[in-house]
Amino acid sequence: MNNFALKGDILFSRTPTELAVFERHYAVCIDGVCAGVFSELPERFAAIPVLDYTGKLIIPGLVDLHAHAPQYAFRALDMDLELLDWLDTQTFPQEARYADLGYAQTAYTIFADALRRSATTRAVLFGTLHVPATRLLMELLEQSGLETYVGKVNMNRNSPDCLCESDAATSLAATRDWLDSCRSLTHCRPILTPRFVPSCSDALMQGLGDLQRETGLPVQSHLSENQGEIAWVRELCPQSTSYGDAYDRFGLFGGDGCPTIMAHCVWSDADERALMKRNGVFIAHCPQSNTNLSSGIAPVRTFLREGLSVGLGSDIAGGVHLSILRAMADAVQVSKLRWRLCDQSLPPLTLPEAFFLGTRGGGAFFGKVGAFEPGYAFDALVLDDADLPCPFALTPEQRLTRIIYLSDDHAVQHKFVDGRKLF
Ligand code: GUN
Ligand code: FE
Repeated sequence: MNNFALKGDILFSRTPTELAVFERHYAVCIDGVCAGVFSELPERFAAIPVLDYTGKLIIPGLVDLHAHAPQYAFRALDMDLELLDWLDTQTFPQEARYADLGYAQTAYTIFADALRRSATTRAVLFGTLHVPATRLLMELLEQSGLETYVGKVNMNRNSPDCLCESDAATSLAATRDWLDSCRSLTHCRPILTPRFVPSCSDALMQGLGDLQRETGLPVQSHLSENQGEIAWVRELCPQSTSYGDAYDRFGLFGGDGCPTIMAHCVWSDADERALMKRNGVFIAHCPQSNTNLSSGIAPVRTFLREGLSVGLGSDIAGGVHLSILRAMADAVQVSKLRWRLCDQSLPPLTLPEAFFLGTRGGGAFFGKVGAFEPGYAFDALVLDDADLPCPFALTPEQRLTRIIYLSDDHAVQHKFVDGRKLF
């Protein structure tokens, strides 16, 4: 059943600052695509079934532009280190476990189940460097009904022996094997994933750039997250004018036919931001990770003013919460600290702006995603806040605000992706 209408209190972002609210309206889905929102069901849709969620909130599905699936297993354990030490002592040994397919089956089943139950309908994910485990993750996600991109990670330098490909040719051959193995999947698609500049030799970056031009595949990586990391990239790439340029010189930083997501961009300067804007690079803003790893506070207000494309990321396990509702609340909260402590010329984000980032902002990476406007993919959540009683009457906008600040993915009662009902 891909033609139907949902009835309830419908909310979505029209622009970064305007939250559209339609009480007791119908959102119509025809062939998996939104046909619009109506106060009465138009005559031409009179025959379609109506799923009546009167009294509930209906919002677009949320988009997680950056998370590490293998890191879900060890989230919220040791969070007292900065990025480079955390990678060496926690992350890399944990990711090495995915050489064992039995372990991967257990861990990725837990992750895929959690993502399926969450408020997220679309996600862009890192796997590990292991081809069989990454293929397994993709199979589980394909079955979940979610729309996802997954990357087999490339890393061939500055990494421990247990988690390092021996040379560029080996890493590239494994990448081609992995791409061959996932041709049959339709809902979970591959994305090229150099881990970050310190993990990838020039020869590997060159080979990945060639592969990108050959295949047109999208790219994801990390950018300007931590000051120690940035100083290291400067040493490793003395010829590059910026961290972003170290990707761009290999054709792995947006531009025609190369959709790209860069996570973090906490410390990107004006030149790096201008390059991202010119190349249409998406920024995955990951406020909780940036807090846990003491990375800093990304200047999201500046990104928005400059017209950059921005979405939200959980960055599991730099971030410990999978919830993009939580990422919205975190984005608002850290922006207030940035405003108060760093730069009073940049006002903090409002909640509607954070909602925009977690829906349309990140959704744009997938195309027309993140709103109930005609032509948009019909990704929808039915939210039930009955277990959040309040002694006075609340507007739909206030109810949504509470669900976001309380970051309660349990409020998700039903979930639709491209018009497919997952539950
Ligand atoms: N940079 C390179 N690898 C990682 C990772 O796994 N997490 C984060 N937050 N940053 C990284
Ligand atoms: Fe990350």
